[in-house]
Amino acid sequence: IEVDEFDLVVFGASGDLAHRKLIPALYHRCCDGQLPENARIIASSRRKYSDDDYKAWAREALSEHVGDVDADALEVFLARLHYVTIDIGSGEGWDDLRTILDERPDVIRAFYLAVGPDLFGTICKSIGDAGLVTDKTRVVIEKPIGKDGASAKTLNDNVGGVFDEHQIFRIDHYLGKETVQNLMALRFANALFEPLWNAAHIDHVQITVAEALGTGGRAGYYDTAGALRDMVQNHILQLLCLVAMEPPESMNADSVRDEKLKVLKALAPITEATADKLTVRGQYKAGASAGGAVPGYLEELGRDDSTTETFVALKAEIANWRWAGVPFYLRTGKRLAQRVSEIVVQFRPIPHSIFDEEAGTISANRLIIRLQPDEGVQMKVMIKDPGPGGMRLREVPLDMSFAEAFKVRNPDAYERLIMDVIRGNQTLFMRRDEVDAAWAWVDPILAAWANSKETPRGYTAGTWGPSASIALVERDGRTWAEDGL
Ligand code: BG6
Repeated sequence: IEVDEFDLVVFGASGDLAHRKLIPALYHRCCDGQLPENARIIASSRRKYSDDDYKAWAREALSEHVGDVDADALEVFLARLHYVTIDIGSGEGWDDLRTILDERPDVIRAFYLAVGPDLFGTICKSIGDAGLVTDKTRVVIEKPIGKDGASAKTLNDNVGGVFDEHQIFRIDHYLGKETVQNLMALRFANALFEPLWNAAHIDHVQITVAEALGTGGRAGYYDTAGALRDMVQNHILQLLCLVAMEPPESMNADSVRDEKLKVLKALAPITEATADKLTVRGQYKAGASAGGAVPGYLEELGRDDSTTETFVALKAEIANWRWAGVPFYLRTGKRLAQRVSEIVVQFRPIPHSIFDEEAGTISANRLIIRLQPDEGVQMKVMIKDPGPGGMRLREVPLDMSFAEAFKVRNPDAYERLIMDVIRGNQTLFMRRDEVDAAWAWVDPILAAWANSKETPRGYTAGTWGPSASIALVERDGRTWAEDGL
């Protein structure tokens, strides 16, 4: 789908996000012919680069993260890059940016703040003061949107002081992942699931986002955040919303976001009285990962007094008609046994078996939506074991692997999301009230932990987290669906 002419200004353009994600995403969109002929990507940071210096930087980013770069396509892409030095602290450089943008006041204008959240307010104010906000202007901000409800409010107030809500695009990159969007296709483009999608037929839901890596070069940030803020408040709650929401009226941004908001508001609070039973915190110790020995979190951090959780498991409940009594077990962590993200919808068992003992165990059906790696959807069903013997039953997967079904490159989430910004489509972006509602559920958990005498349980790197996480589901007579992983 074509987009209109645009100027995209990227602040923090020489940073890690631009290197790993934004420049590669824009390059791919350019190769697919989606950047209009005169689209400009105006990179900006404090560094005193020329246009050519930045192009060399981008070339290097692409060779590292895209690999197989086509020489002609690269030149076409690089021709769209421009660079302006802006020192946010001293305010230098805004006049230069205005001069460039004033050349085309009528095209779509997007400001991408690929910088730390402490700079969001200052940059937005400077954009406003420099008179750069037009009717066709949008701003993109990344998580973390605050570290609790109160700081999120301040941040959103600062951004909202310059931009209207319809101009603000809060990225949750999980919403741009192909399989996450497929969740909506699966639920609302098939008649099969909706009649069964409720407490009468679903026993429980599991959402796992497991990472094999540690905190990498981000230990400083991570130690102030922890797994609950870093992954659950945003990505995992967004996944939960897409699984649990009522069918929206349409794919219109507010219709979808209204429904997600209702789910967030219906989350049963976890309080100081229940946190011990409903949450498990962990922190990794030295172990083995990807075939090699790896240090523990504290060693990586270079401190021994951090109680930041690198793993969390939660039992969440949605107090509404559709989901009453259906637990949503959520877990995420660093340095786990493997990198895998999956949603498992566990259906209830059949009400009565007509088979005799020889048939074996009849497992309840499971729908597994695998976000990464190897994106796909699997439905586990019972069939008769082939052969002339008796009636033996076996669980088999009805399998849909995206890589096999579609021989196309799986686009990165940022490719979709950046283009949606240009198109002005907010469906896959978080509205302010969603962020507030997510914090309203997370804040009491953080408070309960802060007041608890317990500290995170240690787990060996390369395992599935503390054993208490297994106990969390086993107490309810359930198990984490490891075989689906
Ligand atoms: C980010 C978190 O939002 O998501 C990181 O800050 C995490 O800690 C990352 O590693 C995971 O994203 P993905 O796309 O690799 O699953």
